[in-house]
Amino acid sequence: MEDEDRIAIDSDADVVTARQRARELAAGLDLSSTDQTLLATAISEVARNITHYATRGEVRLRIIRDRDGREGIEVVAQDKGPGIVDLELAMQDGYTTGGGLGLGLPGARRLVDEFEVQTAAGEGTTVKLIKWARAPLRPALRSHRV
Ligand SMILES: Nc1ncnc2c1ncn2[C@@H]1O[C@H](COP(=O)(O)OP(=O)(O)OP(=O)(O)O)[C@@H](O)[C@H]1O
Ligand SMILES: [Mg+2]
Repeated sequence: MEDEDRIAIDSDADVVTARQRARELAAGLDLSSTDQTLLATAISEVARNITHYATRGEVRLRIIRDRDGREGIEVVAQDKGPGIVDLELAMQDGYTTGGGLGLGLPGARRLVDEFEVQTAAGEGTTVKLIKWARAPLRPALRSHRV
């Protein structure tokens, strides 16, 4: 895969590294510093969940492009931990099985443009986030006949 940045997540220090790498990638795109912070915060939450619930896993970062040439950052946080038994509950504010605030997943979802979770009890969890940069200055030409 082109330019994929893979960060093994095993400790709090790795969570910080994932955050920083995402910021570096984001700075190369037309992502505002506010958006960079929102993305970094979302990454912290999903990476912290890896260390807390699955002990270890990884975060993969890459730049993606949509059909209109708009660039974004895709984050995949993956572990082979216990999985999330009730995803619907886990996505609600305040639900925690780990003595936290239960705001990590629902908070992360609000901070990004696209958010997807795949999980199976006993198999692990994969959370995919996308934050899009602003549209390119010169929009792609779309034409249709009438
Ligand atoms: N990677 C994961 N593996 C297994 N279970 C998870 C994982 N991530 C989240 N969960 C489950 O989903 C629940 C909600 O996660 P969320 O991040 O929203 O809250 P929290 O981690 O409990 O608290 P907070 O993030 O606010 O400190 C967790 O309590 C846990 O049960
Ligand atoms: Mg959490």
